[in-house]
Amino acid sequence: MKSLLGPIKLEQQRIALVPTMGALHKGHVSLVKMAQQQAEVVVCSIFVNPTQFTDPKDLEKYPRPFEHDMKMLEEAGCHVVFMPSVTEMYPTPEEWHIDLGPAEFLLEGEFRKGHYQGVTQIVKKLFDAVSPDVAFFGQKDFQQVLMIKNMVAWFKLPVQIVSCPIIREDDGLAMSSRNIHLTASDRENALVLSRALNYVKDNFSALSIPELIENAKALINATPGVALDYFSIANGKTLLPEEDKSHQDIVVLVAAKVGETRLIDNMILR
Ligand code: PAF
Repeated sequence: MKSLLGPIKLEQQRIALVPTMGALHKGHVSLVKMAQQQAEVVVCSIFVNPTQFTDPKDLEKYPRPFEHDMKMLEEAGCHVVFMPSVTEMYPTPEEWHIDLGPAEFLLEGEFRKGHYQGVTQIVKKLFDAVSPDVAFFGQKDFQQVLMIKNMVAWFKLPVQIVSCPIIREDDGLAMSSRNIHLTASDRENALVLSRALNYVKDNFSALSIPELIENAKALINATPGVALDYFSIANGKTLLPEEDKSHQDIVVLVAAKVGETRLIDNMILR
C-alpha cells in the first residue's frame, strides 16, 4: 500500500478509504460513490477482522464471496482493493486497549464485549497502511462511527471521518452483509425493526419518550422469531438514554436476533 500510494500522496491527490469486511451490497457501493466525490483515489479494504468477533461461530460463518465483491467494486469504479491476510495484519497476537469513552460499554458494547476495541484496532491498522485523507463508514453501525471518531480524536489522526446514510431495501430493511443468512420468514419478520424506528419517528411529537419505547418494544416483541436485545432512544454523543425530547442530537437504536441472525438498525431523529 505504501509503495503504491506514496507517489499519489506526493502528487497531493486525495486518498479515500472505505473499510469493509466484504460481502458487499448496495450500502457499500454508496460509500464508494460518496468517496469518489471527495477524493481522486478510492481504496476499499476487505478484511474479516477476527479481533472484533465475540463469537467464533459468527466469524466462521461470515460470508466471503470474493469474486462477487471484486465485480461490485470494479463496477462501482473503486481504484484499489486492499485485501490483506490475517497473518499480515496480526503477525503476532496483540494486546490493544484504548479509552473509547463510556459509550463503548453501552448498547452493542453490552452485548459484544470488546467488539469496539477490535474494530478500532483494525481501523487504526488500515489507516496506518493507507494513510487516507478521508474514510467512509455506514451510519448503520452508529456506535461504530462514534467509536472511530473517538479513536481519531484520541490519537489526533489526520483523517476525516464521514458517516454515510443507511441504504435500505424497498420495504425498509437496512442492507447488511448478514441479511444473506435470513430465511424467507426471518426476512419478513425483520421488517419490524425499521417499522418500529419509523413508528418512533412518526409519533415523536405526540408521545412521551417512555411511551414511544414501550410501544415500539411491544411491536417488536409481538413479532414471532424476533428476540430484542435493546431498543433505545439515546443521546447521539453519549448513547445514554435521552429524556429530553428537545435535545438536538437524538438517535433511536435497535438490535435484535431474527431467527439465528443478529441485526442492528437506527434512525437519527435530530
Ligand atoms: O463495519 C465494518 O464492516 C467493520 O466493522 C470495519 C469498519 C470494516 C472494521 O473491520
